[in-house]
Amino acid sequence: MKGVILAGGLGTRLRPLTLVTNKHLLPVYDRPMIYYPIECLVNAGIDEILIVTGGEHAGDFLKLLKNGKQLGVRHLEYAYQEGEGGIADALKLAEDFADGSKICVILGDNILEGNIRRTAGEFFTQTSGARINLKKVDDPERFGVVRFDNDDPLTGRVVEVIEKPANPPSDMAITGIYFFDADVFDMCNQLSPSDRGELEITDVLKYYLDRGDLTHGIVEGWWTDAGTFESLVRATNLVAEGGANHKDFKPAETVTA
Ligand code: DAU
Repeated sequence: MKGVILAGGLGTRLRPLTLVTNKHLLPVYDRPMIYYPIECLVNAGIDEILIVTGGEHAGDFLKLLKNGKQLGVRHLEYAYQEGEGGIADALKLAEDFADGSKICVILGDNILEGNIRRTAGEFFTQTSGARINLKKVDDPERFGVVRFDNDDPLTGRVVEVIEKPANPPSDMAITGIYFFDADVFDMCNQLSPSDRGELEITDVLKYYLDRGDLTHGIVEGWWTDAGTFESLVRATNLVAEGGANHKDFKPAETVTA
């Protein structure tokens, strides 16, 4: 399975920090933010990676990461997103890279404590469709959120996905760790911009849900995004306090395609 990290967008919620660099190059404790999703993929055995980025500072990714070998990446590619058309717009740029295979997509500002190997393995046995990874949060209105057909996230079936609901139907956020089959690109190409002018990843998930092909896992350990000042501090503290995925970093056996 191949991995795609989406690190485009303008990072407007972190201005003025993002006036002089890309959000995903900002420090989170002892390393740049972009290291965490890379290490997360490599720790799950996914070492063929595309980074989609954009903006004025895109060239700095190459300076920092080079060919990715120092982080255990076997093959690293880059793609450039024009403008800030949304997560699903950035994902479109991964179509040639994916080349018909299943992909794991991680948002470049998502950091987690645990390993995604188990959920990746479960998706690997899924013949088609998509898989999302959920986490209980205190502020579900900030995220994509699911509604279950019962109150138990372990046994319940996801019946609705909603982007940043004013009245969340549950406190289970859809984290920025997704698995998709190759149909995802057809779905991205059919989308229309949302009210905030973006192609929404949640609308892609709705397609999969409608065709009965969306599974879910629960993220083990802590998870956070780092795209606001509050969450950037939170991410830094969580990593500093220990137990972060990266601290026992070692390249792992490969999840075969
Ligand atoms: O963090 C999880 C949440 O991420 C999900 O629960 C939401 O469903 C999902 O929409 C997303 O919400 P955000 O509002 O936090 O997304 P944001 O605009 O901050 O973008 C997150 C990452 O996606 C960003 O770090 C880089 C990438 N991105 C975003 C945009 C808008 C791109 O690569 N290109 C883009 O145009």
